[in-house]
Amino acid sequence: MTKPPIALEARKPEEGRLFSPSAGRNKAVIAAALSEILPQGTCVLEVGSGTGEHGIETVKARPDLSWQFSDPDAASRASQTAWAAHVSHDFSEPLALDVSDAKSRAQLFLQYDAIFCANMIHIAPISALHGLAELAGMVLSNSGQVILYGPFLMGESTAPSNLEFDASLKRINSAWGVRDLEAVKHIFAKQGFNSAKLRDMPKNNFLLDLSKS
Ligand SMILES: C[S@@+](CC[C@H](N)C(=O)[O-])C[C@H]1O[C@@H](n2cnc3c(N)ncnc32)[C@H](O)[C@@H]1O
Repeated sequence: MTKPPIALEARKPEEGRLFSPSAGRNKAVIAAALSEILPQGTCVLEVGSGTGEHGIETVKARPDLSWQFSDPDAASRASQTAWAAHVSHDFSEPLALDVSDAKSRAQLFLQYDAIFCANMIHIAPISALHGLAELAGMVLSNSGQVILYGPFLMGESTAPSNLEFDASLKRINSAWGVRDLEAVKHIFAKQGFNSAKLRDMPKNNFLLDLSKS
């Protein structure tokens, strides 16, 4: 069986670094928003880091942050390593973390202050969303926060473009799909993350900032 793609676009390589056209468009606004949200010295675990461009852009704006890349995909991790070598910031080796796999989650023994995850929960089966919430319950302290970036279904106020995107994802893989905002909040609330702040981002995307109240 052919494996579904991990990204919805061609990622251009340059000396080991992959360039994602969509990350190229949204990394500045994401870095600016994260810079406002994350407290000084936050230790961030990024899940599904892809090319690594979001972490790089964010630490350029906020060198005080500690940033741990991760991705189950080896080519993505190689890109994260290449990007890390390209900037003057200390990064540990990217982790081969598949949040839908309990054994993979169990390899994490460190505590983090925040988890950031962009454009993963809709381009993966629902088990990845549940696994992400379990991971958050496991590796974040009581003051920890989970920040998700991407589109959401929001009942009647769902943007038509996000409904179209949802249908196009399901045509690629019936287990994928834009997730319902209230369902996502509920899944994280079961792990104690019952406070949710939603920030509008360009092109009908959002940053969902979840914490324990
Ligand atoms: C569409 S890409 C997004 C990459 C990057 N976050 C961005 O926004 O540019 C989705 C990423 O999630 C990763 N991913 C898919 N399933 C995952 C899982 N179960 N656990 C962790 N990461 C996963 C993929 O390997 C891929 O790198």
